Amino acid sequence: MTTYSQILELRSTLNDYREKKKSIALVPTMGYLHDGHLSLIKKAKAENDIVVVSIFVNPTQFGPKEDFARYPRNIERDSELAKLSGCDILFIPSVEEMYPAGFSTYAVVENISTVLEGKFRPTHFKGVTTVVLKLLNIVQPQVAYFGQKDAQQCVVIRKMVTELNLHTEISIVPTLRESDGLAMSSRNVYLSPDERKNAVALNQSLRLAERLIHQGERNSETIINEMMKLIQSKNPTTIDYIEIVGTENLEKRTSIKSGDTILIPLAVRFGTTRLIDNTIITV
Ligand code: PAF
Repeated sequence: MTTYSQILELRSTLNDYREKKKSIALVPTMGYLHDGHLSLIKKAKAENDIVVVSIFVNPTQFGPKEDFARYPRNIERDSELAKLSGCDILFIPSVEEMYPAGFSTYAVVENISTVLEGKFRPTHFKGVTTVVLKLLNIVQPQVAYFGQKDAQQCVVIRKMVTELNLHTEISIVPTLRESDGLAMSSRNVYLSPDERKNAVALNQSLRLAERLIHQGERNSETIINEMMKLIQSKNPTTIDYIEIVGTENLEKRTSIKSGDTILIPLAVRFGTTRLIDNTIITV
């Protein structure tokens, strides 16, 4: 595994691989890798010749009051884990390398970036789409891998890639969970032992929604209220949202019809830690 911090050097190596007709995959991350990230890297390696993993805590996707400064970082451990999982090239640029002084160009996917997460984090997706577009342009991979846990991010990135005619396939990999069902996330380390125990309510509420729907419940408000009750019983600081939406346009569904595929995303805060999770259900 080789590590690069400069865009020009990375590009030159990747051009050599392209000349040798090697397929290139990208796994974009913000580091502090967990098994969820490693599953993306392993899948990328199983399906491609060369796997590039980027580690970049992207300042433009954090709001002014969010956790950019304290976001967990451990490059040494990440490098070891990435290598063991099949990473060929680690790209760890500095903020100055990605956003040189005077940077003022952004990619924005309108409408679907302003709902759900976008309501609570108004500048978040502008930062995500900008950095992902830059990474896709730098690496020019055949495939880029993202985790289903960030469901809205996946929808927004897919739309950007389609509408800007980018030459990369977007592969979405299922969420990996801890043994009690909590979705793996770099932010789980912020949870106190009590909050960590209570946070299983997120997964439990999603499984409850699945059961209710499979038992025939079709009213979104009823399902959301049952999920709310379950989560409320575990002392969350706030429930930012629980919604039932279409998987493509993220529009709210007041009722569910047979044959529908719906997304149930949620965001809940335990203490100061904001967690997201979701499930996709075909009825
Ligand atoms: O999902 C993440 O970790 C980030 O949003 C991403 C895609 C690496 C962009 O910074």
